[in-house]
Amino acid sequence: MSPMDEQKNVLNSPPPRMNIIGSGKLGRTLARLLHDAGLVTIGGIYNRHIDNSESARAFIGDGCVVKNLEQLTKEVAELWMIATSDDAIHSCAKQLAALPDINWQNAVVFHSSGLKTSAELGPLKKLGSSVASAHPAHSFASPQRSLTSFASTVCTLEGDERAIDSLDSLFSAIGGQVTTIKAEAKPLYHAATVMASNYLVALLGASEALLEKAGIEAALASAILSPLMRQSLENGLTEGAVNALTGPIARGDSKTIQAHLKAIEQAAPGLRSSYTSMGTQALQLARQKNTLSKKELANIEKLLIEK
Ligand SMILES: NC(=O)c1ccc[n+]([C@@H]2O[C@H](COP(=O)([O-])OP(=O)(O)OC[C@H]3O[C@@H](n4cnc5c(N)ncnc54)[C@H](OP(=O)(O)O)[C@@H]3O)[C@@H](O)[C@H]2O)c1
Repeated sequence: MSPMDEQKNVLNSPPPRMNIIGSGKLGRTLARLLHDAGLVTIGGIYNRHIDNSESARAFIGDGCVVKNLEQLTKEVAELWMIATSDDAIHSCAKQLAALPDINWQNAVVFHSSGLKTSAELGPLKKLGSSVASAHPAHSFASPQRSLTSFASTVCTLEGDERAIDSLDSLFSAIGGQVTTIKAEAKPLYHAATVMASNYLVALLGASEALLEKAGIEAALASAILSPLMRQSLENGLTEGAVNALTGPIARGDSKTIQAHLKAIEQAAPGLRSSYTSMGTQALQLARQKNTLSKKELANIEKLLIEK
Protein backbone atom coordinates (compact mmCIF):
# COMPACT_ATOMS: atom_id res chain seq x y z
CA MET A 1 0.00 0.00 0.00
CA SER A 2 1.34 3.47 -0.85
CA PRO A 3 1.80 5.94 2.06
CA MET A 4 -1.16 7.95 0.65
CA ASP A 5 -3.40 4.83 0.59
CA GLU A 6 -2.28 3.94 4.13
CA GLN A 7 -3.25 7.41 5.33
CA LYS A 8 -6.65 7.15 3.58
CA ASN A 9 -7.12 3.73 5.17
CA VAL A 10 -6.44 5.11 8.66
CA LEU A 11 -8.73 8.05 8.06
CA ASN A 12 -11.53 5.78 6.75
CA SER A 13 -11.45 3.26 9.61
CA PRO A 14 -13.46 4.06 12.78
CA PRO A 15 -11.44 6.44 14.93
CA PRO A 16 -9.60 4.83 17.85
CA ARG A 17 -10.64 5.66 21.41
CA MET A 18 -7.90 7.47 23.34
CA ASN A 19 -7.44 7.43 27.11
CA ILE A 20 -5.50 10.36 28.58
CA ILE A 21 -3.29 10.45 31.66
CA GLY A 22 -2.20 14.07 32.14
CA SER A 23 -4.24 16.64 30.27
CA GLY A 24 -2.34 19.85 30.94
CA LYS A 25 -1.20 22.25 28.23
CA LEU A 26 0.06 19.71 25.70
CA GLY A 27 -2.32 16.86 26.52
CA ARG A 28 -5.53 18.84 26.11
CA THR A 29 -4.29 20.58 22.94
CA LEU A 30 -3.32 17.37 21.15
CA ALA A 31 -6.53 15.70 22.30
CA ARG A 32 -8.67 18.59 20.99
CA LEU A 33 -6.82 18.72 17.65
CA LEU A 34 -7.15 14.94 17.16
CA HIS A 35 -10.77 14.97 18.27
CA ASP A 36 -11.79 17.98 16.16
CA ALA A 37 -10.26 16.29 13.11
CA GLY A 38 -12.40 13.19 13.78
CA LEU A 39 -9.25 11.09 14.26
CA VAL A 40 -10.00 9.88 17.81
CA THR A 41 -12.81 9.70 20.29
CA ILE A 42 -11.86 10.42 23.88
CA GLY A 43 -12.23 7.79 26.60
CA GLY A 44 -11.10 8.38 30.18
CA ILE A 45 -9.27 11.52 31.31
CA TYR A 46 -7.17 11.26 34.48
CA ASN A 47 -5.12 13.86 36.38
CA ARG A 48 -4.42 13.80 40.12
CA HIS A 49 -6.60 16.89 40.56
CA ILE A 50 -10.11 16.31 39.28
CA ASP A 51 -10.61 19.99 38.33
CA ASN A 52 -7.73 19.63 35.84
CA SER A 53 -9.56 16.71 34.24
CA GLU A 54 -12.85 18.60 34.20
CA SER A 55 -11.39 21.71 32.57
CA ALA A 56 -9.66 19.49 29.98
CA ARG A 57 -12.91 17.69 29.25
CA ALA A 58 -14.62 21.04 28.67
CA PHE A 59 -11.75 22.21 26.41
CA ILE A 60 -11.65 18.99 24.36
CA GLY A 61 -15.44 18.60 24.18
CA ASP A 62 -15.39 14.84 24.75
CA GLY A 63 -14.23 12.25 27.27
CA CYS A 64 -15.12 10.92 30.67
CA VAL A 65 -13.42 12.26 33.80
CA VAL A 66 -12.15 9.45 36.05
CA LYS A 67 -11.22 9.93 39.71
CA ASN A 68 -8.35 7.46 39.79
CA LEU A 69 -6.26 5.29 37.50
CA GLU A 70 -8.20 2.17 38.53
CA GLN A 71 -11.33 3.57 36.87
CA LEU A 72 -9.52 3.51 33.53
CA THR A 73 -9.94 -0.27 33.50
CA LYS A 74 -13.57 0.43 32.51
CA GLU A 75 -12.53 2.72 29.62
CA VAL A 76 -11.61 0.46 26.72
CA ALA A 77 -9.13 2.27 24.43
CA GLU A 78 -6.76 1.43 21.60
CA LEU A 79 -4.67 4.57 22.07
CA TRP A 80 -3.19 5.88 25.35
CA MET A 81 -1.50 9.27 25.80
CA ILE A 82 0.59 9.84 28.94
CA ALA A 83 1.13 13.62 28.93
CA THR A 84 2.16 14.10 32.56
CA SER A 85 5.36 15.85 33.62
CA ASP A 86 8.40 13.90 32.33
CA ASP A 87 9.25 12.55 35.78
CA ALA A 88 5.83 10.93 36.24
CA ILE A 89 5.70 9.05 32.90
CA HIS A 90 7.46 5.87 34.05
CA SER A 91 5.58 5.59 37.33
CA CYS A 92 2.25 6.09 35.50
CA ALA A 93 3.23 3.33 33.03
CA LYS A 94 4.09 1.04 36.00
CA GLN A 95 0.80 1.80 37.75
CA LEU A 96 -1.17 1.18 34.54
CA ALA A 97 0.65 -2.12 33.98
CA ALA A 98 -0.36 -3.26 37.47
CA LEU A 99 -4.07 -2.72 36.77
CA PRO A 100 -6.14 -5.85 35.99
CA ASP A 101 -8.40 -6.33 32.98
CA ILE A 102 -6.75 -4.05 30.44
CA ASN A 103 -5.91 -5.67 27.13
CA TRP A 104 -2.60 -4.10 26.15
CA GLN A 105 -2.03 -6.46 23.20
CA ASN A 106 -3.18 -4.13 20.42
CA ALA A 107 -2.82 -0.85 22.25
CA VAL A 108 -0.55 2.02 21.21
CA VAL A 109 0.83 4.02 24.14
CA PHE A 110 2.81 7.24 23.76
CA HIS A 111 4.21 10.11 25.76
CA SER A 112 5.40 13.50 24.50
CA SER A 113 8.62 14.15 26.37
CA GLY A 114 11.43 15.60 24.27
CA LEU A 115 14.05 14.00 26.51
CA LYS A 116 12.62 10.69 27.68
CA THR A 117 12.38 7.81 25.25
CA SER A 118 9.79 5.11 24.68
CA ALA A 119 11.75 2.98 27.19
CA GLU A 120 9.82 4.86 29.92
CA LEU A 121 6.81 2.85 28.77
CA GLY A 122 8.64 -0.49 29.16
CA PRO A 123 6.16 -1.98 31.67
CA LEU A 124 3.34 -1.63 29.10
CA LYS A 125 5.48 -2.91 26.23
CA LYS A 126 6.13 -6.05 28.30
CA LEU A 127 2.36 -6.60 28.32
CA GLY A 128 2.17 -6.40 24.53
CA SER A 129 1.46 -2.75 23.70
CA SER A 130 3.39 -0.79 21.08
CA VAL A 131 5.10 2.22 22.59
CA ALA A 132 6.57 5.48 21.32
CA SER A 133 7.57 8.98 22.28
CA ALA A 134 6.11 11.76 20.12
CA HIS A 135 7.56 15.22 20.71
CA PRO A 136 6.06 18.24 18.98
CA ALA A 137 8.63 21.06 18.71
CA HIS A 138 6.01 23.59 19.77
CA SER A 139 5.51 25.76 22.84
CA PHE A 140 2.06 24.97 24.25
CA ALA A 141 1.98 28.01 26.55
CA SER A 142 -1.62 28.71 25.52
CA PRO A 143 -3.70 25.68 24.42
CA GLN A 144 -6.24 27.97 22.73
CA ARG A 145 -3.53 29.70 20.62
CA SER A 146 -1.84 26.38 19.87
CA LEU A 147 -5.01 25.10 18.20
CA THR A 148 -4.38 27.52 15.33
CA SER A 149 -0.56 27.63 15.41
CA PHE A 150 0.11 23.87 15.64
CA ALA A 151 -0.04 23.23 11.86
CA SER A 152 3.41 22.52 10.35
CA THR A 153 4.98 21.80 13.77
CA VAL A 154 7.75 19.21 13.45
CA CYS A 155 6.76 16.14 15.48
CA THR A 156 9.65 13.82 16.31
CA LEU A 157 8.78 10.16 16.84
CA GLU A 158 10.83 7.38 18.39
CA GLY A 159 9.82 3.85 19.39
CA ASP A 160 8.19 0.68 18.01
CA GLU A 161 7.37 0.51 14.32
CA ARG A 162 3.63 -0.09 14.80
CA ALA A 163 3.29 2.81 17.24
CA ILE A 164 5.31 5.08 14.95
CA ASP A 165 3.10 4.17 11.97
CA SER A 166 -0.09 4.98 13.90
CA LEU A 167 1.26 8.23 15.34
CA ASP A 168 2.71 9.26 11.97
CA SER A 169 -0.82 9.05 10.48
CA LEU A 170 -2.43 10.89 13.39
CA PHE A 171 0.13 13.71 13.72
CA SER A 172 0.33 14.17 9.93
CA ALA A 173 -3.46 14.42 9.74
CA ILE A 174 -3.48 17.36 12.20
CA GLY A 175 -0.84 19.18 10.16
CA GLY A 176 2.34 17.99 11.89
CA GLN A 177 5.55 17.45 9.91
CA VAL A 178 6.53 14.02 11.14
CA THR A 179 10.10 12.82 11.47
CA THR A 180 11.86 10.12 13.49
CA ILE A 181 14.83 10.19 15.86
CA LYS A 182 17.08 7.57 17.46
CA ALA A 183 16.59 7.19 21.22
CA GLU A 184 20.24 8.09 21.97
CA ALA A 185 19.94 11.42 20.11
CA LYS A 186 17.03 12.68 22.23
CA PRO A 187 19.01 14.44 25.02
CA LEU A 188 20.92 16.66 22.55
CA TYR A 189 17.84 17.19 20.38
CA HIS A 190 15.85 18.25 23.44
CA ALA A 191 18.64 20.50 24.80
CA ALA A 192 18.62 22.28 21.42
CA THR A 193 14.87 22.84 21.46
CA VAL A 194 14.97 24.04 25.09
CA MET A 195 17.69 26.56 24.25
CA ALA A 196 15.83 27.82 21.18
CA SER A 197 12.50 28.12 22.96
CA ASN A 198 12.84 28.55 26.73
CA TYR A 199 16.25 30.25 26.75
CA LEU A 200 15.05 32.76 24.16
CA VAL A 201 12.38 33.75 26.67
CA ALA A 202 15.04 33.80 29.44
CA LEU A 203 17.17 36.09 27.26
CA LEU A 204 14.20 38.44 26.90
CA GLY A 205 13.82 38.45 30.70
CA ALA A 206 17.52 39.28 31.19
CA SER A 207 17.39 42.19 28.70
CA GLU A 208 14.23 43.52 30.34
CA ALA A 209 15.94 43.38 33.76
CA LEU A 210 18.94 45.39 32.49
CA LEU A 211 16.67 48.01 30.89
CA GLU A 212 14.77 48.32 34.15
CA LYS A 213 18.07 48.86 36.01
CA ALA A 214 18.87 51.55 33.41
CA GLY A 215 15.67 53.35 34.49
CA ILE A 216 13.74 52.60 31.30
CA GLU A 217 10.03 52.02 31.88
CA ALA A 218 8.35 48.79 30.75
CA ALA A 219 6.42 50.13 27.72
CA LEU A 220 9.54 51.72 26.26
CA ALA A 221 11.57 48.58 27.05
CA SER A 222 9.08 46.55 25.05
CA ALA A 223 9.25 49.06 22.15
CA ILE A 224 13.05 48.69 22.16
CA LEU A 225 13.25 44.91 22.48
CA SER A 226 10.34 43.75 20.38
CA PRO A 227 11.58 44.87 16.91
CA LEU A 228 15.21 44.22 17.86
CA MET A 229 14.60 40.61 18.85
CA ARG A 230 12.25 39.95 15.92
CA GLN A 231 14.77 41.41 13.41
CA SER A 232 17.71 39.47 14.87
CA LEU A 233 15.76 36.21 14.90
CA GLU A 234 14.50 36.76 11.36
CA ASN A 235 18.05 37.56 10.16
CA GLY A 236 19.45 34.49 11.93
CA LEU A 237 16.79 32.18 10.54
CA THR A 238 17.09 33.46 6.97
CA GLU A 239 20.83 34.17 6.69
CA GLY A 240 22.23 31.75 9.28
CA ALA A 241 23.66 32.58 12.73
CA VAL A 242 27.17 33.47 11.48
CA ASN A 243 25.98 36.00 8.88
CA ALA A 244 23.34 37.48 11.18
CA LEU A 245 25.74 38.35 14.04
CA THR A 246 26.31 42.10 14.39
CA GLY A 247 27.38 44.19 17.40
CA PRO A 248 30.54 44.72 19.46
CA ILE A 249 31.77 41.12 19.40
CA ALA A 250 31.39 40.88 15.60
CA ARG A 251 33.27 44.24 15.29
CA GLY A 252 36.01 43.39 17.79
CA ASP A 253 35.09 46.31 20.10
CA SER A 254 36.66 44.94 23.27
CA LYS A 255 36.38 48.24 25.20
CA THR A 256 32.60 48.15 24.71
CA ILE A 257 32.45 44.62 26.17
CA GLN A 258 34.60 45.80 29.10
CA ALA A 259 32.17 48.67 29.79
CA HIS A 260 29.17 46.33 29.64
CA LEU A 261 30.77 43.95 32.13
CA LYS A 262 31.57 46.79 34.53
CA ALA A 263 28.01 48.14 34.40
CA ILE A 264 26.44 44.67 34.82
CA GLU A 265 28.70 43.85 37.79
CA GLN A 266 27.54 47.03 39.51
CA ALA A 267 23.82 46.93 38.69
CA ALA A 268 22.94 43.25 38.14
CA PRO A 269 25.84 40.95 39.10
CA GLY A 270 23.55 37.90 38.80
CA LEU A 271 23.36 38.48 35.03
CA ARG A 272 27.15 38.52 34.49
CA SER A 273 27.42 34.80 33.77
CA SER A 274 24.49 34.96 31.29
CA TYR A 275 26.22 37.83 29.47
CA THR A 276 29.60 36.06 29.33
CA SER A 277 28.28 32.63 28.36
CA MET A 278 26.19 34.00 25.48
CA GLY A 279 29.14 36.28 24.64
CA THR A 280 31.37 33.19 24.35
CA GLN A 281 28.89 31.69 21.88
CA ALA A 282 28.78 34.98 19.92
CA LEU A 283 32.61 34.93 19.85
CA GLN A 284 32.47 31.44 18.36
CA LEU A 285 30.28 32.82 15.55
CA ALA A 286 32.61 35.83 15.14
CA ARG A 287 35.53 33.40 14.66
CA GLN A 288 33.62 31.66 11.88
CA LYS A 289 33.02 35.04 10.19
CA ASN A 290 36.79 35.28 9.72
CA THR A 291 36.81 39.08 9.84
CA LEU A 292 38.67 39.69 13.15
CA SER A 293 42.38 39.28 13.84
CA LYS A 294 43.66 36.65 16.28
CA LYS A 295 44.56 39.48 18.68
CA GLU A 296 41.07 41.01 18.58
CA LEU A 297 39.48 37.61 19.21
CA ALA A 298 41.91 36.89 22.08
CA ASN A 299 41.22 40.27 23.76
CA ILE A 300 37.49 39.60 23.83
CA GLU A 301 37.93 36.00 24.95
CA LYS A 302 40.09 37.16 27.88
CA LEU A 303 37.35 39.56 29.05
CA LEU A 304 34.64 36.92 28.75
CA ILE A 305 36.48 34.21 30.69
CA GLU A 306 37.84 36.50 33.46
CA LYS A 307 35.97 36.02 36.74
N1 LIG B 1 4.31 22.48 27.21
C1 LIG B 1 5.02 22.33 26.12
O1 LIG B 1 5.26 23.32 25.41
C2 LIG B 1 5.55 20.98 25.70
C3 LIG B 1 6.14 20.87 24.42
C4 LIG B 1 6.58 19.62 24.00
C5 LIG B 1 6.48 18.52 24.85
N2 LIG B 1 5.93 18.66 26.11
C6 LIG B 1 5.83 17.47 26.97
O2 LIG B 1 4.46 17.20 27.23
C7 LIG B 1 4.31 16.62 28.53
C8 LIG B 1 3.31 17.45 29.33
O3 LIG B 1 3.80 18.77 29.44
P1 LIG B 1 2.81 20.00 29.77
O4 LIG B 1 3.58 21.24 29.52
O5 LIG B 1 1.52 19.78 29.12
O6 LIG B 1 2.66 19.82 31.34
P2 LIG B 1 1.51 20.40 32.29
O7 LIG B 1 0.79 21.52 31.63
O8 LIG B 1 2.16 20.61 33.61
O9 LIG B 1 0.50 19.18 32.39
C9 LIG B 1 0.83 17.99 33.02
C10 LIG B 1 -0.49 17.33 33.44
O10 LIG B 1 -0.20 16.05 33.98
C11 LIG B 1 -0.92 15.88 35.21
N3 LIG B 1 -0.07 14.99 36.02
C12 LIG B 1 1.16 15.25 36.54
N4 LIG B 1 1.60 14.17 37.23
C13 LIG B 1 0.63 13.23 37.13
C14 LIG B 1 0.47 11.90 37.62
N5 LIG B 1 1.41 11.34 38.38
N6 LIG B 1 -0.64 11.23 37.31
C15 LIG B 1 -1.61 11.80 36.54
N7 LIG B 1 -1.54 13.06 36.05
C16 LIG B 1 -0.44 13.75 36.35
C17 LIG B 1 -1.08 17.29 35.78
O11 LIG B 1 -2.27 17.40 36.55
P3 LIG B 1 -2.30 17.08 38.12
O12 LIG B 1 -1.26 17.93 38.78
O13 LIG B 1 -3.71 17.39 38.50
O14 LIG B 1 -1.98 15.62 38.23
C18 LIG B 1 -1.22 18.14 34.51
O15 LIG B 1 -2.58 18.29 34.13
C19 LIG B 1 5.72 16.57 29.13
O16 LIG B 1 6.26 15.30 28.91
C20 LIG B 1 6.48 17.62 28.34
O17 LIG B 1 7.87 17.35 28.28
C21 LIG B 1 5.44 19.85 26.54
